[in-house]
Amino acid sequence: MTQMAWRVDATGTMAPAGTITPPGHVEGAQHDERRTGDAWQPDTTSRIRTRGDVILDLQNISLAFGGVKALTDISFDVCEHEIRAIIGPNGAGKSSMLNVINGVYHPQHGRIVFRGEERRQMHPTAAARQGIARTFQNIALFKGMTVLDNIMTGRNTQFRTGLFAHALWWGPARAEEMRHRRKVEEVIDFLEIQAIRKTPVGRLPYGLQKRVELARALAAEPSMLLLDEPMAGMNVEEKQDMCRFILDVNHQFGTTIVLIEHDMGVVMDISDRVVVLDYGKKIGDGTPEEVKANPDVIRAYLGTSH
Ligand SMILES: Nc1ncnc2c1ncn2[C@@H]1O[C@H](COP(=O)(O)OP(=O)(O)OP(=O)(O)O)[C@@H](O)[C@H]1O
Ligand SMILES: [Mg+2]
Repeated sequence: MTQMAWRVDATGTMAPAGTITPPGHVEGAQHDERRTGDAWQPDTTSRIRTRGDVILDLQNISLAFGGVKALTDISFDVCEHEIRAIIGPNGAGKSSMLNVINGVYHPQHGRIVFRGEERRQMHPTAAARQGIARTFQNIALFKGMTVLDNIMTGRNTQFRTGLFAHALWWGPARAEEMRHRRKVEEVIDFLEIQAIRKTPVGRLPYGLQKRVELARALAAEPSMLLLDEPMAGMNVEEKQDMCRFILDVNHQFGTTIVLIEHDMGVVMDISDRVVVLDYGKKIGDGTPEEVKANPDVIRAYLGTSH
């Protein structure tokens, strides 16, 4: 498949890049109908078919840090089961937007409606309890702890019994811990990281650390997953793996995904809809095709001289 593609250049900025080769066969991967043959074709049609109602509605969001306007009057929505990409040049406000969604930042203006309820000043743990999990632009794992223990921390919001009962490994606490361990093992199998489950995270290559971070987020069984540059710094093969896992999570569990990613080839291939930010303002919103054809978006990436 040959198509218009966008790439990040060596300086980290984005530009159309002629043609791209979609992610292909991944060594050792389980194959389904989307991954047979040489050309890998994301099954976007089935995703669009199953996309549900709006579950997150962001209205006129403005966020400033002193004199720095990180976000200015931004509105967009996210539908259940879709993969919604947020793109934009460096400093555009993408990470700030994710931080608004999961309650790390509280915007000065605007409304956030999640599953029909307006929420104000929500704390990240409350967002986690509502089913929102995330990964970070800079990996945030406990480097000295094993993969297994790191993923287990993703279950924290699910614990029902108290610390005392857990310390005694007693009755309901024991049953609960077994349930959590089972869930964690499921995630480990799903992301194909059995071989490294006892390895301290700090000893793993970058690409695998990113996968462990995804595993920790999935362990929380989120209904909405916020991914901040999950493929940054990865080689082509690692990106292919990560793309496959993101699509699998979306297809198999119906998880809604909000994705920040600089690799425009990936964004255009796997997203249902894309919102484009530039200098904290929204300059585009629509399907990948619509966004690619948007003159403001092209200008933002290429500069006015082009
Ligand atoms: N905690 C903060 N304190 C002060 N300024 C901040 C803070 N967080 C973000 N900013 C500023 O807000 C603007 C948007 O930053 P943000 O990190 O959201 O951009 P981004 O689109 O994620 O960029 P990148 O692609 O480089 O990750 C920048 O000017 C940044 O310096
Ligand atoms: Mg960022």
